[in-house]
Amino acid sequence: MNGTFYDLTTALVERKLFAGLRRDLLGQLAGEIVEVGAGTGADFPYYGAGAHVIAIEPDRSMAGRARRRARSAAARIEVRIADDTFLAGIAPHSVDAVVFPLSLCTIDAPSRALEQARRVLKRSGQLVVLEHVRSEGRVGRFQDAVAPLWKGAAGGCRLNRRTRDAIAEAGFAVDALRTRRISRFFLIQELLYGSAPPAA
Ligand SMILES: C[S@@+](CC[C@H](N)C(=O)[O-])C[C@H]1O[C@@H](n2cnc3c(N)ncnc32)[C@H](O)[C@@H]1O
Repeated sequence: MNGTFYDLTTALVERKLFAGLRRDLLGQLAGEIVEVGAGTGADFPYYGAGAHVIAIEPDRSMAGRARRRARSAAARIEVRIADDTFLAGIAPHSVDAVVFPLSLCTIDAPSRALEQARRVLKRSGQLVVLEHVRSEGRVGRFQDAVAPLWKGAAGGCRLNRRTRDAIAEAGFAVDALRTRRISRFFLIQELLYGSAPPAA
């Protein structure tokens, strides 16, 4: 997707909703961090100076904007043009946090990415997510019906992923993850966000 187009079309929701959540989720992270699906680098302003971030993004246009944004970040951020399979090359138990920012909806094989995240995380590490998820009931069934159309129109985004279940199945403790209803009227109605440590 064109990075300029992405930033223009998400600017309002970014300012009104995501900026505050990103600040809360990322501000206290430190050490070795891998961000998967960094897009144009919307997360980058919120990492502190104690963070060293490897930011993975497969789309060259998005990654180009992310690289420019990385230059003005407080954290040391390296943008790699790669997809989630990059995680397979990282040593086990070597990373303090793996961050998925609105990317588990788009990654083709989220379970594979989450299993790799579990493998590379230190035992004291944490998975950090900010994702939109499938709603329950009638809304969820409607999301199922329009998901193929939405995927085509929205750069591969899936409206109806059950991301909390996928995170639990990959071996994380999901009790501290929170949900927030963001709308009654839009196709995307619910967010899942927070930190999940590896399950014991
Ligand atoms: C909805 S955008 C989110 C971008 C950014 N993280 C944000 O919060 O604005 C999803 C991103 O995931 C990236 N992506 C898609 N498939 C991926 C994969 N297999 N591995 C890593 N990133 C992927 C896309 O290129 C896109 O930049």
